[in-house]
Amino acid sequence: MSAFEGAKEIVRSTVWPFVPEAAKRGIRRHMLGIKEAGQPGDALSSFLSTDVQEIASPNETNWFQSVTFPDGRRVKGHNADFMLTNKMWRALGIENGSLAGKSVLDVGANDGFFTVAAGLAGAGEIVSINSTDYPSYPTNIEYLTSAWGVSPELITHDFFAYEFGRTFDVVLFLGVLYHVENVFAAAKKLRSLLNPGGYALIETHMARSQSDLPIFEYASDIFPTSAPAFKSNLGELGVSNFLFPNIPALRNLADCYGFKFEHVGRGSQYERENPFRAVVKFSV
Ligand SMILES: C[S@@+](CC[C@H](N)C(=O)[O-])C[C@H]1O[C@@H](n2cnc3c(N)ncnc32)[C@H](O)[C@@H]1O
Repeated sequence: MSAFEGAKEIVRSTVWPFVPEAAKRGIRRHMLGIKEAGQPGDALSSFLSTDVQEIASPNETNWFQSVTFPDGRRVKGHNADFMLTNKMWRALGIENGSLAGKSVLDVGANDGFFTVAAGLAGAGEIVSINSTDYPSYPTNIEYLTSAWGVSPELITHDFFAYEFGRTFDVVLFLGVLYHVENVFAAAKKLRSLLNPGGYALIETHMARSQSDLPIFEYASDIFPTSAPAFKSNLGELGVSNFLFPNIPALRNLADCYGFKFEHVGRGSQYERENPFRAVVKFSV
């Protein structure tokens, strides 16, 4: 054992047992490189806590998203990084308190991580929609939201075809853009769903092709695009991939459909660790 390892072992066996639990949590969070949103001790901080006690599937179904339950159990999602959703939430750049009283639409809500985070961040009203292609929807989102005391309106429908009959202050469009066959219709629909002063947060898979000009890379199973098209799933809604934009394409999409554009995820831990993903804001 090196002198350094020896010193670490002495600290672990003699000092660590006497470090207060709160301080241990802070040290673990620091080592994971994650800072929490919200005030210490509030429900959002508990939901975003990285002090994971157990990886579990609490209701015997598969979970796409990794989420934490109030008792501290963390469900393992499909991604190897079980803090991916936390990092994505931070990349959205939602300021503490800024959702207070706002109406929020979560499109492609899936297991409900972002619905719950928005609810615990103080959103006044939440509507969550997902297409029928996801077998665990709405089972998991119902389970998660009820555990955290968040009460969204849950809709099972294609976001394009559904007549909302209303508008929202904030639309979360996370992990959906590259699943839609018509990105231009998606931008138009997002514009029609926003209140004056509202905004959409868009998280998307990105093009591998480099260009200073706006391009959409056409997802393919026969060319080495940044992800496959999964054409065998073309008949299902929201599973196959279609177009992967670059940042200029997102900027141009915002410009064409009357939005102000901001690359809010730039420099975030989420984008650094996931180079083919980006988070942008389209504001009205
Ligand atoms: C990659 S997952 C992202 C889930 C979640 N928003 C996140 O970022 O972790 C895409 C989700 O969008 C849903 N989806 C795709 N197309 C949709 C559509 N047209 N209408 C509603 N939901 C859709 C899928 O079923 C899936 O749950």
